[in-house]
Amino acid sequence: MPRRISGRTWIIPGNKKKMNTKQLILTDYKRDGFLSREDLMKLEEAAGILRQGGLVAFPTETVYGLGGDALRPEVSAKIYAAKGRPSDNPLIVHICRLEQLEKVAKRISPEAWKMAETYWPGPLTMVFEKTDLVPEETTGGLNTVAVRFPSHPAARMLIERSGTVIAAPSANLSGRPSTTTAAHCVEDLTGRVDAIVDGGDCQIGLESTILDMSGERPQLLRPGAVTAEMIEVTLGFRPEEDAALKGPLAEGVRPKAPGMKYRHYAPKARMVLISPKKGGNTAAAILEQIRPEIEKGSKCAVLCTAECREDLMKAAPELTGQFVIKETGSRRDVRRAAHVLFELLREMDAEEIEFIAAEGSRETEIGAALMNRMKKAAAWQIIDV
Ligand code: TXA
Ligand code: MG
Repeated sequence: MPRRISGRTWIIPGNKKKMNTKQLILTDYKRDGFLSREDLMKLEEAAGILRQGGLVAFPTETVYGLGGDALRPEVSAKIYAAKGRPSDNPLIVHICRLEQLEKVAKRISPEAWKMAETYWPGPLTMVFEKTDLVPEETTGGLNTVAVRFPSHPAARMLIERSGTVIAAPSANLSGRPSTTTAAHCVEDLTGRVDAIVDGGDCQIGLESTILDMSGERPQLLRPGAVTAEMIEVTLGFRPEEDAALKGPLAEGVRPKAPGMKYRHYAPKARMVLISPKKGGNTAAAILEQIRPEIEKGSKCAVLCTAECREDLMKAAPELTGQFVIKETGSRRDVRRAAHVLFELLREMDAEEIEFIAAEGSRETEIGAALMNRMKKAAAWQIIDV
C-alpha cells in the first residue's frame, strides 16, 4: 500500500522509478596512495550517501564494487535489486581497519590472522563464522561472512568515512563481466545506484581470491591475485581447492561459494578456450575452430596474445579481415592479460560477436585466476593443445 509521508509525498513500496546517478570523478587516483583535497570532498559526499543507506559504486584494486551499508538488511536488499542478483548469493563485507574483523567474524584462527597480516590490505577475501551484527540478508542466509580489506586508497577512505562496513558485490549487472572501469559501471548501473565514484582503471582487473577459513582446513573458493603459491609460502601448505574450480558442477551439487554456481562472466558469444597445456600449436587450433564458423557466416573474434596473433597472420593470411582480433599483450605478461580480460569481453559483446576462440594461459600464479574466469566464460568448452 502506498504510504503518505507528508502533504503530497507518498512512498510507494517497490517503486521501480529510476534514480539519478551522480558521477564523482577522482582526479588524482593515478598517484599511488594520494588523495587530493578535492578528491576527499567527493569521497565525503559518497560516504554521506552510504551513511543514509544509499548505494555507491566505487573502485578497488580488483574490480569496481557496488557498495552499501552491510549492517542494514534493507540496504542489502537494495544491492541485490540493483544488480538483478539472486538473494541467496552472499555479499562480501569490506572493512578498512583490522579491528573491524572481530566485529563481523568469529573463530578467527591463527592461520587466518597470519593471512590477514600478510595480505591485507589487498586482494584477499576470507570466509568466517559471522557475528550477530551481520544480518542474514547480507550473507544470503548463511551463518558465515566473507570479509575483504581492500588496498585501494579511495575504497579505504570511503569505508572509513561511511562509519560502517560496506557490503559490495562486483559492480556489474548479474551475469555480465565484472566492471574494471567507471565507464563499465555507468553502462550497467546508471539509474540503479545513487553515485559512481570514478577512480579510473582497476589495477588487477580480476576479483579477489576467496579463502574459506571457517572449516577445519583452509579451502580456496576462488583464485585471484593472492595466488595458491603465495598462500602456500605463508601457511606452509597448499589450500584445498573447491570442486567448483575443477570443472562444471554436477546437477544439484552446491558449491561452497554460492556465486560460483551462476552463469558468470558470460559473453553473449559462444566461446571456446584453447588451453596451451601440452606445448602444441595454439594458432593452428584456433584456426581449426574459427574456419567453419567464418564459413557459416558467424561474426567471429579471436582473443589472443601478440605472439599468437603473429602466428595467425602467417598461417592464414587469406583470413585476415574476416575476424576481429582482441590482443591481450605479450604471452609472458599474464598479469596484463588478466587486467584486460573483462574489458575485452565487454567490447566483444558491444560488437555483437557470435563466436570467440580464446587463447588460454599457463595455470600457475595469476594464470590460475585468469584461466578460472576464462573457463567459465567458455562454459567449460576447453581444447588442450
Ligand atoms: O574483488 C572482489 O572480491 C570484488 C570487489 C568489489 O571487492 N567483489 C566481488 O564480489 O567479487 P562478488 O559478490 O561479485 O563475488 C563474491 C563471491 C560470490 O561468489 C559469493 O558467492 C562468495 O563471494 N561469497 C560471499 N560470501 C560468502 C560466504 N559467506 N561463503 C562462501 N562464499 C561467499
Ligand atoms: Mg561478481
